[in-house]
Amino acid sequence: MRSALVTGGSRGIGLGIATRLAELGYGLTITARDPETLNAVARELSAAGSPQVAAVAVDLADRDAADTIVAAHGEQFGSMDALVLNAGVGTAGSIADYPMRRFDKTLDVNFRAPFQILQNSIPLLRLVAEADPARGAKVIALASLAGVYSESGLAVYGATKAAMLSLVDTLNAEESAGGITGTSIAPGYVDTDMSDWTKDKIPAESMIRVGDIVELATSILKLSSRAVVPSIVVTRAGAGLGA
Ligand SMILES: NC(=O)c1ccc[n+]([C@@H]2O[C@H](COP(=O)([O-])OP(=O)(O)OC[C@H]3O[C@@H](n4cnc5c(N)ncnc54)[C@H](OP(=O)(O)O)[C@@H]3O)[C@@H](O)[C@H]2O)c1
Repeated sequence: MRSALVTGGSRGIGLGIATRLAELGYGLTITARDPETLNAVARELSAAGSPQVAAVAVDLADRDAADTIVAAHGEQFGSMDALVLNAGVGTAGSIADYPMRRFDKTLDVNFRAPFQILQNSIPLLRLVAEADPARGAKVIALASLAGVYSESGLAVYGATKAAMLSLVDTLNAEESAGGITGTSIAPGYVDTDMSDWTKDKIPAESMIRVGDIVELATSILKLSSRAVVPSIVVTRAGAGLGA
């Protein structure tokens, strides 16, 4: 059975990707904080075709969350075909006024935890890459357009996303010859709960659809291990490069 770990699999982009992976027959580990939603989604993913779903309710701001998540995936599946580093928190505030408590939480959830989940997952990904060198194992990270082009008010969020782009580039430098390849997807505003705060200015109908990101992620998973796509930038029709 192929298996994937999707962080933030309970809503938005993560749910979209997890649902498609379930339809493709992947065994899944999904994570989020809210256990009720997570368990309900786990049942939906089973109904959508996933042969086995593990739901791990943890807060990525907790320092032991990454260990808990990857250990749970290892126990259930023994290896990992795909790691989707999707969970993230969107925080805004000007540099002049940004509270340092929010700074720490944003870095912990958006960069520290994904780094540690990736680090812990490498042995499981290597098992797949060694067993099937032509296909390899894949890492997909949700970065953001804010990590590529600056936007006022998104200094800290954008920096965490730039860090994810850099992390995936380094993963490719270190692991792609051995069959683990990574891709960052860096979209502008996507119509999910996370972008609700700006929907009075940018209508939901004009935002990128979750389904668009799902198509890109699914295409990446179909590539052979020889093709490396370091990053995909997705802008909104009608918008400039910012936002
Ligand atoms: N929406 C956009 O406009 C947009 C644009 C560019 C990039 N992105 C990136 O795409 C990714 C997914 O975004 P989305 O729009 O799908 O977000 P979303 O709808 O807000 O969903 C976020 C997911 O992550 C989980 N999550 C949030 N904080 C968490 C925490 N501290 N610990 C564990 N899980 C947590 C949520 O579940 P719980 O709340 O239950 O924990 C949920 O499953 C993020 O990395 C985001 O930065 C989004």
